[in-house]
Order: sequence, then C-alpha cells, then structure tokens
Amino acid sequence: MPKTKTRYVCQVCGSAQAKWQGKCPDCGEWNTLVETVIQEPAPGRGATVISAGATGPQALPDIPADGYERIPVSIAELSRVLGGGIVPGSVVLISGDPGIGKSTLLLQLCASLAEGGGPVLYVSGEESASQIKLRAERLGIVTPHILVLAETHLESIASHIEKTQPRLVVVDSVQSIYSDAIPSGAGSVTQVRDCSAALLRQAKAQTFPLFLVGHVTKEGAIAGPRVLEHMVDTVLYLEGERFHSFRLLRATKNRFGSANEVGVFEMAERGMVEVKNPSEAFLAERLPNSAGSAIAVTMEGTRPILVEVQALTSATSFAQPRRTANGVDFNRLLLITAVLAKRARIRLADQDVFANVVGGLEVEEPAADLAIAAAIASSARNRPVAADLALIGEVGLSGELRSVGQLPRRLNEAAKLGFTRVLVPRSVVRKLEHPPAGLEVLGARTLREALEIALVGGETDEAADRSG
Ligand code: TYD
Ligand code: MG
Repeated sequence: MPKTKTRYVCQVCGSAQAKWQGKCPDCGEWNTLVETVIQEPAPGRGATVISAGATGPQALPDIPADGYERIPVSIAELSRVLGGGIVPGSVVLISGDPGIGKSTLLLQLCASLAEGGGPVLYVSGEESASQIKLRAERLGIVTPHILVLAETHLESIASHIEKTQPRLVVVDSVQSIYSDAIPSGAGSVTQVRDCSAALLRQAKAQTFPLFLVGHVTKEGAIAGPRVLEHMVDTVLYLEGERFHSFRLLRATKNRFGSANEVGVFEMAERGMVEVKNPSEAFLAERLPNSAGSAIAVTMEGTRPILVEVQALTSATSFAQPRRTANGVDFNRLLLITAVLAKRARIRLADQDVFANVVGGLEVEEPAADLAIAAAIASSARNRPVAADLALIGEVGLSGELRSVGQLPRRLNEAAKLGFTRVLVPRSVVRKLEHPPAGLEVLGARTLREALEIALVGGETDEAADRSG
C-alpha cells in the first residue's frame, strides 16, 4: 500500500504546502491552495532521472549524434514553428484562448500525418466523437487513418495507444484527463501534472510524437502546474484576436528548434489556412496616401513582417486627453506622444490619440516606434506618409532615433513587398553593407528630421507651428 500524505497544492503554480494559507507563498496568488492527498512515491520511483547506464560520463566528441529523423509535416507554417517537422517521441504543449483554433489546427495536423498511412490517434476529452466528425467534415477530412477516441480516463487512453501503435497522438485537452491512481479531482494540478507525465513517458517509450492541448488561465498562462512547461519539449501558443481572422502560432520553448519561430494562419471557412506572405496579407486593405497611416517592419522571432500602424488624433472633449492603444503597448504610446509633443512640436495636449495595428497583430518591438510616431504626426498634421516608404527605428526620450537589430532582414522584406524607400536611424546607414537592390535607404538622426522626410504635402511644419 503506498503511503499518502495531505498537502495544500496551489492550483496556479503547483507548489505544495504543509499548511493551508490564504496566499500561495510561491506565486503570490490568493485562495489557490486546495487540500490534496498525495501518494508518497514508492522507493526508487521518485523524479525521473536520465540514467547514464553502464557507460558513465563520456567525452563530448565520443557521444554519438542523436540521428532522429523528423516526420515531415505538409503544413509548412506549422512545420517551421516545430523546427522543421516533428521529432518522434517529442512532446508538444499547445495552448491558447478558447475558440482560437487549437482543435482545428491539430485535426489538420492529424490529416497531414495520416496521408503517410498508419493510424494517428485523436483523443478528445471535451468533445464527443461525432462533434469531431462534424469538424472533420467541415475541414474536408475523410481519411480512415484518423482514429478518434472520446475518453478522459488515462489508463484506458494508455491501453488504446499501446494497442493501436499510432504515428501521432493528440490529447485535447490535458485538463480533461484523469487517472484512478491519483486521489484528487479531475483538472486538479496533481491530476494534470501526473497524467501528462504518464503520457510523456509512454510517448518516449513508444517514440510517437505527442501533442497536448493545454488551457490558459484568465491571464493567458497555461492553466495548471508550471512544471508542465518544463516537462515537455516544445511549448506553442496560438494567438490572435477574436474578431480578426489572423492567427499566430508562436514557439516559446523548443528543444528541437528555434524558440523564436512564428507561423501565420488565417481562420477561414475550411479551417486554418497558411498565410505564406504575412506582410502582403497585413497590408492588403491599406489606403495609400491617407493621413494617419505608416508602415512598420517588425520582427516576429526571426521573421520580418510589415504591418500598417494607424493613428487618429482628434480634439478632446475631456480635461485629460485620452490615449487608446490597440496592438501597441500603452506605455510606449504615452512615451511616443510625449516625445512628439516635446521634441517634434506636434501639438497633442488637447488631442485624443488612438493608435491601432491593422490585422489584430500585437507589436511590442521598439523598432516600430518610428512608424507609430509618424502615423500620429501624420494624422495631427493631416499630411500622409509617403506611400512607398517603410519606417524602422526606436525613438529615444531626447527625440533621437536609435538603431534596431536584424536590419538586413527587415530591408529585404520591405524591398520584397515593393517599397522603394525605407527610413532608418542614420547611425545604421553607414554600417549597412549591401542594401537590397531597388531600395533607397534614408537616414535620419532625430524624430523631427524623420518626420520632415516621411510626411508629404500639406503645410510646412513652420506654418503649422504658427497656426497651431
Ligand atoms: P476550435 O478549433 O474549436 O478552437 P479551440 O480548440 O482553440 O477552442 O475553433 C473554434 C472556432 O473556429 C469556432 O469559433 C469556429 C471556428 N472555425 C472556423 O472558422 N472554420 C473552421 O473550419 C472550423 C473547423 C472552425
Ligand atoms: Mg478545442
């Protein structure tokens, strides 16, 4: 009989306390400790350790390379995020808001792998088999090689995996799985952690890739124990705005590839469609030569993406003018408006300022500062930003333009999209060795100088200063 003990387990971070407390001492959350009966591990069965076996320590050059062959994935955007196909035996945790498209994407992944023959197993703990069939029909998936198992009982799932020897297993979601061997409720931290660990061990032993869907908390973190992220090989987040169709699949951890990769999809009538050229998609509805719009070149991981930043300034009817940011960091917007007012003499003290990134994308990089500033100035001065111009640069508090990383990639992307001029901090122009053909690289030292170059037509700054 295994020994048991009672502990108070935090439902957010998974730490176990001997006494009940109102606040978790580890993560600081309130009212998250839940009384839990924990089994003492049998002797010798504690945490998993990688045994060095009979060989003992080995000199680096003597260690044979782990020649795993990746399973190709025909969905290229997903493949790139995984690091170029799926490593057998690897465990991938994918999470994101409800309704964002996790189940849809994973069913499409199943279909992609089923093309190669051999069964893939889709375990659903939340939807019935017929609901999954409905989704598959909608996606045009008819293959007999996808086996659907509507089951939440861990031991049954494990035995079905054992029997069917699938090429891929999807478990949707880990929060819905429970095991008899664990004496706490389904969905509790202990259940989620231990069920995941059991599935993970089976994946490693039978060398099938395992995809786990994990729910997110209100704050956007993966619900359940933090250790889940440490256990798995890869953590993916599917993001997007509810009312926009673009979805970003982002790797935040990847033992078998870059943790910076981003895949872009669009949620369409028939599932998640790859967006091969995100910049083109994000700029599709742009109105050239309209005031208040500027093009930024931001990096999503290693991938440059051109986005349209829009701004609108309008006379305020409040004592305190409002600042509203959508897809732009709010504090960054405050900083940029302050610098515009003080260093570039754009009058904003009596103006509400709205800034928006088109397409529902979140732009966090300071490299987009210059485009945000130009869009605001453009709206305030009612002068459009030149239609053939893309803007790259961080704005400093003194109104200076600061250099940003990965400039060559950004310039190539701008050139590819047909931009003929790009405005960057002057300090980086000299260092640029081979700007792409057909792209004129303009340098500016300050925000004020940059606006002189970027804004076309209309009244001059001096006239505006006099009239404003
Ligand atoms: P789903 O994959 O169930 O999301 P998750 O598993 O992350 O909760 O996606 C649900 C949403 O996607 C739902 O609002 C309907 C929409 N959808 C489409 O727009 N097109 C499709 O082809 C499918 C299957 C779903
Ligand atoms: Mg789902």
